[in-house]
Amino acid sequence: MQRILNGIASLPEILDEVGCQKLFLVIDSSFPFLNIKDAIESLPVEEKVTFSDFTPNPLYEQVCKGIDLLKASNSDAILAVGGGSAIDVAKCIKLAVLAQEGNAAVIPPLVSQILHIDGSRIPFIAIPTTAGTGSESTHNAVMYYEGVKQTVTNDGVLPDYAVLEPSVLKTLPLYQKKCTMMDALCQGIESWWSVNSTDESKEYSRKAVELIMTNWRKYIFDNDDEAAAQIMLAANYGGRAINIAQTTAAHAMSYKITSLYKIPHGHAVAVCLPEIWDYMIDHMDQVKDSRGQMYLARTFMDIADAMDSGNARIAISSFRQMMLDMGLSNPVSENKEEDILVLSQSVNPVRLKNNPIGLREEVIRELYSIIVKYN
Ligand SMILES: NC(=O)c1ccc[n+]([C@@H]2O[C@H](COP(=O)([O-])OP(=O)(O)OC[C@H]3O[C@@H](n4cnc5c(N)ncnc54)[C@H](O)[C@@H]3O)[C@@H](O)[C@H]2O)c1
Repeated sequence: MQRILNGIASLPEILDEVGCQKLFLVIDSSFPFLNIKDAIESLPVEEKVTFSDFTPNPLYEQVCKGIDLLKASNSDAILAVGGGSAIDVAKCIKLAVLAQEGNAAVIPPLVSQILHIDGSRIPFIAIPTTAGTGSESTHNAVMYYEGVKQTVTNDGVLPDYAVLEPSVLKTLPLYQKKCTMMDALCQGIESWWSVNSTDESKEYSRKAVELIMTNWRKYIFDNDDEAAAQIMLAANYGGRAINIAQTTAAHAMSYKITSLYKIPHGHAVAVCLPEIWDYMIDHMDQVKDSRGQMYLARTFMDIADAMDSGNARIAISSFRQMMLDMGLSNPVSENKEEDILVLSQSVNPVRLKNNPIGLREEVIRELYSIIVKYN
């Protein structure tokens, strides 16, 4: 069971509780600029070993370097401080070190089939420095393996402690704030309509969506501290929601947009979501969720309510207006026909399966042709 704590001040107590002497620190390139840098560097442990040799959207080869370093260091706890990428790297490192299969343990097909890891053997603490992925509260880790974005899913990678310290968002560049917040909003919406949703996950989804809709303007345009705290909480709820219900078609269709147009994850997901939602409203008879068409219509209405909109079409307009107000535009292509083909062949089938309305290949091509604009 994960513990979620507020504020960096709880960290020395956590380290004491888990009996940490040698700390393995996973940080990204933003660490030197973070306001919590000094507090982390002065933590009361005998030794700290630091790993930061990875990029956003981390690669398998980079993760392997971290695995070797943790093995050599004999550390007794892992602390990840950073965005979703840093937390995902730390998760993969932990998984591989604990698994008999070693580095190969993080190769996705192996993980989903055979690994049962006792995650309690190395305590793992995560401090998110973006408010978006919710990775601090999920059992997923994302990395690139042989050029393809892969998700490693294993209960052993869920951090034992998630520490939410919203003041770290002060240094997050404005564009990153927008993209990461939209990732959280899409997670809230998608987990809500996912075929895997439960009463518990829907409660988390609702909190994520409501908190973002209430606070996003103050967070983005006024740099307001209280709004930042609410958005960080929302992102965590989004993480808890997808940890149960998972994401759906907007995430499934976004991955190749990120690599093809070099658009951050949250931005790529957010350009897909309104078009998919619009299509779903027009094709309610093709519902895949066993709870049926009426259930799905009610769910769309509940989401619209949380977005303070009278119905789902109005909610889609609000979502599009939000993107416009933040200046988040759709990708523009030089070779649209060619791109549509590449994009439609790259959709993640696992995430797509969670969508409440089936999307055939020709529908996906049609949706991409709306999402991607001509130069
Ligand atoms: N594991 C999961 O459950 C899950 C869920 C959603 C997304 N993801 C993955 O997470 C990754 C995206 O994570 P992200 O959106 O948090 O971005 P990120 O971790 O890739 O970071 C983006 C950039 O922001 C910088 N940064 C982070 N925090 C900062 C701060 N406070 N101040 C200044 N700069 C800062 C980083 O150094 C980096 O350059 C993607 O790979 C995505 O697929 C994982």
